[in-house]
Amino acid sequence: MTRIQDLFENNKAWSKRQMESDPDFFNRLTTLQKPKFLWIGCSDSRVPANQILGLKPGEVFVHRNVANLVVHSDLNCLSVLQYAVEVLQVEHIIVCGHYGCGGIGAACSNQQFGLIDNWLRSIKDTYDRYRSEIEAIPDQASRHDRMCELNVLTQVMNVCHTTIVQNAWARGQKLEVHGLVYRLTDGLLHDLAVHITSLDQIEDIYKLGRLDRRKTDAAAG
Ligand code: CO
Repeated sequence: MTRIQDLFENNKAWSKRQMESDPDFFNRLTTLQKPKFLWIGCSDSRVPANQILGLKPGEVFVHRNVANLVVHSDLNCLSVLQYAVEVLQVEHIIVCGHYGCGGIGAACSNQQFGLIDNWLRSIKDTYDRYRSEIEAIPDQASRHDRMCELNVLTQVMNVCHTTIVQNAWARGQKLEVHGLVYRLTDGLLHDLAVHITSLDQIEDIYKLGRLDRRKTDAAAG
């Protein structure tokens, strides 16, 4: 698959197949998208959310970036998160990493790759936080695998530390945050058994009270 023309031909064939199998498919999606899931995954071309999850268009809202990071100053990711939680009212947020992630590998090396090193910088903080655990693992491949998992766990908590998710819980909205890792070699998802469903599972320092405009104004002044 190398020519752009092939893509248009693929697209026409796909559209035809959809119409044949479900004539109302596009009409339904035009009027409403009501996905239950937000997927935050790696940009890696081998990790396509819909196909891995077996979901159709309209069933998962997707944000992808290199190494599936949730950075608190990233307006792009935060906007996706806010829209998914507050407007679409997704019930599950899935942070999905993958073993063999090049972004994790780059961040765990001392090589410079250019601008992207700045994006990947926070992964070094995760390495540093878990350094004794990581460096106790004897082989390089297993160290890398564990870093992919620890990165996901860190991003799951970053999602939970946002005002967006905490305000949703404060409103009583049902919202679960999950951490998964995809294995390229067998196509299977591994559940990291982290399922955050409420503020009780958050470290105290990251808990935020309800927004109070008067106090906010006072603090700003
Ligand atoms: Co990756």
